[in-house]
Amino acid sequence: MSTTLWQKHWILERNSILLLIGILIVIAIGGLVEVIPLFYLKSTIETADGMRPYTPLELAGRNIYVSEGCYLCHSQMIRALRDEVERYGHYSLAAESEYDHPFQWGSKRNGPDLARVGGKYSDDWHRDHLKDPRAVVPGSIMPAYPWLFTTDLDYEHIARDMKVQADLGVPYTDAMIDDALADVRTQATDNAPDADALAKRYPKAQSRDFDGNPDRVTEADALIAYLQMLGTLVDFKLYNDKANIR
Ligand code: HEC
Repeated sequence: MSTTLWQKHWILERNSILLLIGILIVIAIGGLVEVIPLFYLKSTIETADGMRPYTPLELAGRNIYVSEGCYLCHSQMIRALRDEVERYGHYSLAAESEYDHPFQWGSKRNGPDLARVGGKYSDDWHRDHLKDPRAVVPGSIMPAYPWLFTTDLDYEHIARDMKVQADLGVPYTDAMIDDALADVRTQATDNAPDADALAKRYPKAQSRDFDGNPDRVTEADALIAYLQMLGTLVDFKLYNDKANIR
């Protein structure tokens, strides 16, 4: 056995700072070896039946949700605790945030969790609530967002937004991106002739005049379309039997 190797180890043993740095390096390597493969092994990535990318209108609505700062008061993450599940529904699955870049789990609840708010209220309710929360919920501390109803949705760049999402791994096809502008108009219109074709490409997509103003596509159209789809994609009857979680 070479004595020089032992002598070198003495350097570490006699200098606590060097020893500490050495320990940190070794632990970091161990951690990386354990964690990094999890991002790439298919078997560790759960999917959920029914998840699909956002339609262009929903994606635009999501952008408004982010830009208006709704996430500052609302979470989209139902924890696996009894009181949460009884109030909001099935706890959130990681796979339900599969196409969220960035995810909207939030960290603060001044208002209720919104992960499953889709279908809970009518469009009418959302319209009244966004225009003046206190008109429908006396004592609400939520701010009013009346300008959403008077501001045309700026969706010229939605195809570019979809391309960025595609670069991040969302499976938007070239055809979906090419159809983006037409899809926005279709989904925001009552009885649009192409609504069925849209729902084929984006299962469970709801098409109608969300903001109650058939002449314009406003920011409210996009935001309400987004709110009304939240939590509606995955059929949780399938998930009562844990064996169905792949
Ligand atoms: C200052 C905090 C705050 C902000 C910002 C905020 N909200 Fe709220 N929100 C609340 C509170 C408090 C409630 C509960 C009272 C009520 O229904 O108005 C609520 C309720 C809601 C509800 C009804 C949820 C339910 O299950 O009853 C929806 C939907 C909602 N907010 C959407 C939004 C959207 C969309 C935005 C962004 C445009 C937003 N909120 C921004 C505080 C906020």
